Amino acid sequence: MTPDPKRIVVGMAGASGTIYGQRLVEKLVGLGWEVHLLVSASTWKVMQAELGIRGVGPSTPLTEWLSISEEAARLQVHTYNIRDIAAPMASGTFRARGMIIMPCSMKTVAALATGYSDNLLSRCADCFLKERRPLVVVPRETPLSLIHLRNLTTLSEAGAHIVPAMPGFYNNPRTIEDLADFMVMKVLELLQIEHDYDLAWKGSHPVGDE
Ligand SMILES: Cc1cc2nc3c(=O)[nH]c(=O)nc-3n(C[C@H](O)[C@H](O)[C@H](O)COP(=O)(O)O)c2cc1C
Repeated sequence: MTPDPKRIVVGMAGASGTIYGQRLVEKLVGLGWEVHLLVSASTWKVMQAELGIRGVGPSTPLTEWLSISEEAARLQVHTYNIRDIAAPMASGTFRARGMIIMPCSMKTVAALATGYSDNLLSRCADCFLKERRPLVVVPRETPLSLIHLRNLTTLSEAGAHIVPAMPGFYNNPRTIEDLADFMVMKVLELLQIEHDYDLAWKGSHPVGDE
């Protein structure tokens, strides 16, 4: 059996860099994907600080923090109560191309590394790991303690792709959105999702007299 090719789970877990998750969902929707969105309680607080949307939370219409149409929000983005551990993706039987946690806090990294699934996001990721399905984790913290590093190593050993939120600068990004899109492109490539970014390195240009 092959998983539904155009269905994906996106988790956003408590770290700075909510723009990464925001741009990821917008891009997936634009590319025609069905997105199952899991936003942790802490993420709303970070979003308030970073996106400047006062009072943003689980009941805020998606179109207030995502640049997508109302129709796309209704048809393509499915949201869940983070406490609802009886939701479909709390089971290994849920089918999707993969799960991307972007951004991911060190607390959620620790939860995943120890199998401590106390909310729907960590339970879903636990299922992707146990079923050996693609899980992409985009951690954001600095500096990293030995505990963080060990937890990330454990996750990598368990099969997750660890993609630190470290955008490259060789494409001369001009805006914060350019930086975020670099990371979005990276995770889409890992899951072999066709995209329309043109951010690949094209080789160096001659310098000086050459
Ligand atoms: C404004 C703000 C920024 C934060 N940034 C980070 C971060 O970059 N990395 C991190 O690991 N935690 C960060 N945290 C702390 C997490 O939100 C906190 O550990 C929370 O318990 C994570 O829970 P969750 O993973 O279930 O969302 C931040 C918190 C706030 C309020």
